[in-house]
Amino acid sequence: MKIRTIQEKIGNVKDEIIIAGVFEETKVLSGAASTIDKLTRGMLKEVLDYGDFSGKLYKTLMLYVKKGLQTKRVLLVGLGKEQEFNLDKLRGAASSAACCIRDFGLKSFVVPFSFVQTENIISRDKAAAFVEGILLGLYKFDDFKSNQRGSRQNRINSATILVNSMDELKKTRIEAGRAGSVARAVCTARDLVSRPGNSATPSFLAETARSMAKASGLIFKVLDEKGIKKLGMGAFSGVAQGSNEPARFIVLEHKPARKKVPSVVLIGKAITFDSGGISLKPAGKMEEMKTDMAGGAAVLGTLQAVAELNLPVHVIGIVPATENLPSGRALKPGDIVKSMSGKTIEVISTDAEGRLILCDALTYAARYKPSAVIDLATLTGACIIALGNDVTAVMGNDEKLIGKIRKAADTTGERVWQLPLWQEYGELIKSDIADIKNAGGRPAGTITAGYFLKEFAGDIPWAHLDIAGTAWTDRNKPYVPKGASGVGVRLLVEMLEKW
Ligand code: BES
Ligand code: MN
Ligand code: ZN
Repeated sequence: MKIRTIQEKIGNVKDEIIIAGVFEETKVLSGAASTIDKLTRGMLKEVLDYGDFSGKLYKTLMLYVKKGLQTKRVLLVGLGKEQEFNLDKLRGAASSAACCIRDFGLKSFVVPFSFVQTENIISRDKAAAFVEGILLGLYKFDDFKSNQRGSRQNRINSATILVNSMDELKKTRIEAGRAGSVARAVCTARDLVSRPGNSATPSFLAETARSMAKASGLIFKVLDEKGIKKLGMGAFSGVAQGSNEPARFIVLEHKPARKKVPSVVLIGKAITFDSGGISLKPAGKMEEMKTDMAGGAAVLGTLQAVAELNLPVHVIGIVPATENLPSGRALKPGDIVKSMSGKTIEVISTDAEGRLILCDALTYAARYKPSAVIDLATLTGACIIALGNDVTAVMGNDEKLIGKIRKAADTTGERVWQLPLWQEYGELIKSDIADIKNAGGRPAGTITAGYFLKEFAGDIPWAHLDIAGTAWTDRNKPYVPKGASGVGVRLLVEMLEKW
């Protein structure tokens, strides 16, 4: 789908449909809606007076134009109450408009820059929110649908952003271009998460990273099982040993030409299927465990955007990838593995495998002497119990770093909530016979997982995002259709841009 920006008047633009926002419970129309109303001699006012459209958030109404416009259709989009409006609702409104237009079978539409006019939003952010809302809202994963794949049916080909001045045109083009890169990176992550376990294997992820590197000038490195063992990653290879599918330790690096830029390591858990191992999970909904590589997918997506935008930060993406399966060779509860750090780990549950692969990645990360390390992982079911499906848990050893993450999350609308890593929680994962154990029972399950990782972060500023609840959604959300969300990509790119 193409998104372009042109300078043109609402009354002169020719397209299949033009969209305009309407706030709830307002007597006066603003922005594009007001312009269209004037040009059409009160067409919108009439609809509102009849009470046929109240501006309720994300509601839409299609109208047909008799006179005053070159475009035959107008889609009104409800924006909700003006005092409650924000950037995230603009993304949602753009998405709901785009989806409605797609479902009508139309192929292109126009978004006037004045689609919404309110003090609540900085105009600089507007173009980005349109683009994100449209691209993320229209996303569909149909790689495995034999009939629909590549078909043009119900696909929008182009969206046109309409601006008023040359100055606006320039700025909007830059912003829209940037947002397009980020949104496509989110879709890359979504594609990987949606892909089933028999396709998105560790080797598949490695090959994806390799072609990504080739396309955008990233540095690519991969360790196979021999290389993983050679580095002494006994915790990671312990998890991998139960599966016939070979594990991969993937590294993607964005190295700007400019020297003396900060280095930031991103680590993403990539269990391409988590059966639980010998501590086998119950069968119900086990298919969802193909999404246990969402952290890794988010890291790959982020690196794609970081490279495209050529951000002035040295970013290293590390993705330990393996299946977690039971077999005659698999880890058993009670086994003790030796991590790359030298610490020994008693494996209480083979289903607490995420922390086992991440701890070796954390140790590996130290070789970059980074200013910060951030890991993303679908780490604990307990996170869903604590925070639900709309909030990511954040923990770490550095309040400044956590502050950066929270600030970025506020901007992108990806909610995060901090949990404490007080030393009392460490008591729950003390082992009688090894240095640490990998599970601390049901109490504070998300925190004990975080605490486990903290023990391997050393004194590097580190933060951990538990995306177990947010990586996948069972219901349609504004601009996140049912399925993989791609959570983390926009947050990390935003944070790195502001670094
Ligand atoms: N991948 C799961 C966590 C998960 C559960 C993510 C549901 C998304 C949805 C993780 O590997 C796991 O199984 N964690 C265990 C840890 C426990 C054994 C200490 C859990 O949450 O039950
Ligand atoms: Mn597990
Ligand atoms: Zn897992």
